[in-house]
Amino acid sequence: VAVEIFPDNKEGSRYVAQQIANLIREKEKKGQHCVLGLATGSSPQNVYAELVRMHKQEGLSFKHVITFNLDEYYPIEPDALQSFHRYMWERLFKHVDILPENVHIPDGTVPKDKIKAYCQQYEEQIEKAGGIDLQLLGIGHNGHIGFNEPGSNMNSRTRLIALDQATRIANSYEFAHIAEVPRLAITMGISTILKARRIILIAWGQHKAAIIRKAVEGHSTEQVPASLLQQHPDCTFVLDEQAASELT
Ligand code: F6R
Repeated sequence: VAVEIFPDNKEGSRYVAQQIANLIREKEKKGQHCVLGLATGSSPQNVYAELVRMHKQEGLSFKHVITFNLDEYYPIEPDALQSFHRYMWERLFKHVDILPENVHIPDGTVPKDKIKAYCQQYEEQIEKAGGIDLQLLGIGHNGHIGFNEPGSNMNSRTRLIALDQATRIANSYEFAHIAEVPRLAITMGISTILKARRIILIAWGQHKAAIIRKAVEGHSTEQVPASLLQQHPDCTFVLDEQAASELT
């Protein structure tokens, strides 16, 4: 993987937003849709804020953008405070001119016996859109990408997964109590992610330094899902100095 290091989250986020905007504009010029894979969590917040700013001040249009989010808790109502639906609409979609029918976020309300078919359909929708041009990723302390926890198969596709207890604890700050953090999630698989033509993983802060080192310099192993990105031909880790501080 390639590594780009910036002084802080703000500057790194500005760079990533610029990369996304360049791609949207390039594809628009060719009369093509731009298909983005998107992440939630704390890491991409400034990227989305910068994209909203570019829409409002620089005329960046999302009219020809199609999005697929990586994951969603299960079960969860789309209007729940902690849902990734809500996160995406509040932070990005409602502030730009994206067409609601072009937004795809795994549905946390699908009945359990329909989840398999639903996940298969999510994969088909990505293919029908022409595949993901650019996938944005964060990274969990255990190396998860999307909610592909350690041990996730290289060939995994969109599916229901049990969250690691460490992930539930890391995300519990958004819930009143750890018991309220869902135990399950729907996530794109490792192979879904690796099929994206280009991948940008972002990480900020000292607390991500150890896992970034493992992901970039360690063996490529299913035990550290982000290390599987070493096998992708166009993947860049965009880091701040703290997240990069343990790289040799
Ligand atoms: C979110 C996602 C997760 C997060 C990861 C890091 O859609 O897929 O993999 O990217 O848990 O979360 P933050 O950015 O909150 O540290």
